[in-house]
Amino acid sequence: MSNPSILILPGDGIGPEVMAEVRKVISWFGAKRDIQFDVSEDLVGGSAYDAHGTPLHDDTMAKAQEVDAVLLGAVGGPKYDALDFSVKPERGLLRLRKEMDLYSNLRPAQCFDALADFSSLKKDVVAGLDIMIVRELTSGIYFGEPRGIIEEGNERVGINTQRYTESEIERVARSAFELAMRRGKKLCSMEKANVMESGILWREVVTEVSKDYPEVELSHMYADAGAMQLCRWPKQFDVIVTDNLFGDLLSDAAAMLTGSLGMLPSASLGAPMANGRPKALYEPVHGSAPDIAGQGKANPIACILSFAMALRYSFDMGTEADRLEAAVEKVLADGVRTADLLGEEGVTPVSTSEMGDAVVEALDASL
Ligand code: NAI
Ligand code: MG
Repeated sequence: MSNPSILILPGDGIGPEVMAEVRKVISWFGAKRDIQFDVSEDLVGGSAYDAHGTPLHDDTMAKAQEVDAVLLGAVGGPKYDALDFSVKPERGLLRLRKEMDLYSNLRPAQCFDALADFSSLKKDVVAGLDIMIVRELTSGIYFGEPRGIIEEGNERVGINTQRYTESEIERVARSAFELAMRRGKKLCSMEKANVMESGILWREVVTEVSKDYPEVELSHMYADAGAMQLCRWPKQFDVIVTDNLFGDLLSDAAAMLTGSLGMLPSASLGAPMANGRPKALYEPVHGSAPDIAGQGKANPIACILSFAMALRYSFDMGTEADRLEAAVEKVLADGVRTADLLGEEGVTPVSTSEMGDAVVEALDASL
């Protein structure tokens, strides 16, 4: 069998800086675990616009459709702010998500003990937290028709439409149940079935899908109550599945329970390919951070943990994913901090590259 393939799209700003550290990790797996990946690299976002006049070249799009996983850094930056909407860096990322049909967005909220003090919540509320929010990513109110701003009588009316088909709900529900099976076998579905018909259908379809997963304990919660519960006692959850709009808000809120933007990975998954692996794109939650780009200050952990998600969800290498996450945990427990993680007095921050080296050393120590 051929090696699993990865397309790396470093992008703009700190994207290439954090991706260089992921490269070190990938090399480590090749050298020390004899796990080889076929890695190719290409441009996305502003860097692609500079080279080709488009934020995502058709050839790059075609490559992304073929590989087992795409690993993306970040796109955008002030240099491109004045560009026409149609060629803005973000359009490259949106095109990837759309054409790969990545409907299931996985956003973990995980609290590393060493960083529990960073949370805005009490330490015992977040210590040991490990939950996963699954957000529907390709439908719902951000895409529904009709939409627009129209004139009605003597005033303007802004219109967006929440619209979900049964099959759209079913496929994201299925992906959440599959995930729950690999984790704590607990799934909470969130909508507003009390005031929205799309929420009523959501609840019905999720309940139907649950019959195929009798081992998973399913609960339903109104999304507003869910928001409260996430802040009050997040550890009651394991996997949460919700629509595009609620998922946007809930995953951002949950992420902040655990601290810095520089720590947060994500995965966007689509339908299974011929080899059984899902179409997949992995990326840190943060952007291109132009304020610190080029200074060696960026925290590479979000990008490294995104690669750990790739190991787990694209390559079925859960043990190696555990190993990489444990290495990150060890580095943090040892007090290694990039500038964004500083809190304690008297700690000198390490550079992006030094953080990557520390993770590789911790990987070595795991053997
Ligand atoms: P941002 O996430 O780039 O930065 C927000 C703040 O967090 C900045 O102060 C930054 O220095 C800090 N930060 C972010 N990642 C960090 C890391 N790994 N290590 C240390 N500090 C980190 O969001 P912002 O400033 O709103 O957007 C900057 C550019 O990024 C814009 O052009 C925006 O459109 C783009 N963007 C791209 C995204 C993507 O590629 N998925 C997502 C969000 C924004
Ligand atoms: Mg958001």
